[in-house]
Amino acid sequence: MTEPQAPHSPRTFQSLLITGGAGFIGSHVIRRLLRTQPQTRIVNLDALTYAGNLANLADVEAHDHYTFVKGDIQDADLLTALFAEHAFDGVIHLAAESHVDRSITNPLAFLETNILGTATLLNVAKQSWTERGCMDEALFYHVSTDEVYGSLGQEGLFSETTPYDPRSPYSASKASSDHVVRAYHHTYGMPIVISNCSNNYGSHQFPEKLIPLMIRNIVDERPLPVYGEGINVRDWLWVEDHASAIEVILTQGWVGDTYNIGGLNEWRNIDLVHKLIELVDARLNRPEGTSKALITFVKDRAGHDLRYAIDASHLEERLGWKPSVTFDEGLANTVDWYLQNQAWMDEVTSGDYQQYYAQHYANRG
Ligand SMILES: NC(=O)c1ccc[n+]([C@@H]2O[C@H](COP(=O)([O-])OP(=O)(O)OC[C@H]3O[C@@H](n4cnc5c(N)ncnc54)[C@H](O)[C@@H]3O)[C@@H](O)[C@H]2O)c1
Repeated sequence: MTEPQAPHSPRTFQSLLITGGAGFIGSHVIRRLLRTQPQTRIVNLDALTYAGNLANLADVEAHDHYTFVKGDIQDADLLTALFAEHAFDGVIHLAAESHVDRSITNPLAFLETNILGTATLLNVAKQSWTERGCMDEALFYHVSTDEVYGSLGQEGLFSETTPYDPRSPYSASKASSDHVVRAYHHTYGMPIVISNCSNNYGSHQFPEKLIPLMIRNIVDERPLPVYGEGINVRDWLWVEDHASAIEVILTQGWVGDTYNIGGLNEWRNIDLVHKLIELVDARLNRPEGTSKALITFVKDRAGHDLRYAIDASHLEERLGWKPSVTFDEGLANTVDWYLQNQAWMDEVTSGDYQQYYAQHYANRG
């Protein structure tokens, strides 16, 4: 097995393909890189599923170095044409089906996009970089999740050497895609990096995920569905810190290396919900604790992993990255953003979301 290699100097890119850029994390990555990497042209390839929204990038859509293409990562012909037209020297692959609950009701969509889609993209990148004779200078960056490591008990942290033990169709599909990416590195010499990140929170997150869902429901005085007894623990990272970690790994990551990214912020779901109630009630000038009555414990998620927590010391020691904000700062910023952007919330929750929400939460009382 090849040992990870440090780049000679920080990498720069002429032309980057970013997949899934209209989603939550991708939109933050694009906004950041347009600001910090002025030499780089960025193509955002996104199928605009229910989770993708061009409103997430409205502020950069007219940027000279930004192009949006609507399309599917499983479409090899489209990918081949894009590589030929834009001569990408790097890929940041974020496109995925990303919601665990949806993976329980529709696993095949996850296997198709997350495994076959990733393999299709890798294959086209390999062909294009081989034909252009630039494989050694290129980079394929695969963005993955800490959920590939399975579930922790009360103690311990996931490190890069923790054996994979995925439990949901979502995490199994992401674990498979990580393996395929590593296989392209070891078999074909494709330069790759992988990062496995903990739960993200921040602006522009689709409100099926815990934090925006709770903020929205507190504002609307709707029930706050909490799985089981609310004792599952997640390690939260502010999305803008994830975007900064992605930039550091893109430009300085060692070829063939894997980096865990985490925020050192472990919270039980129920404690996090109480924290959100406190913040939102205060901002809406409601008496303290008003929205606690909205908490509704619902039947636990099938196979719900108890605890995730990340040891991010490898990333800090090798590349010097650390989160920039405390959880209190990041969460306050996030709550303010959702309260000030009701129009965004209304736009992304029209149509499909209404149907999904009704079906998914109808029997969870
Ligand atoms: N959100 C988190 O907490 C978190 C944590 C760790 C890792 N990740 C990983 O980061 C990546 C981005 O996550 P996110 O939260 O921004 O997801 P998201 O669901 O908000 O966005 C995913 C984007 O991918 C697009 N997409 C889906 N299927 C596609 C296809 N077949 N072809 C092209 N585009 C497609 C969607 O339209 C959407 O814009 C994912 O790979 C996810 O596994 C997310």
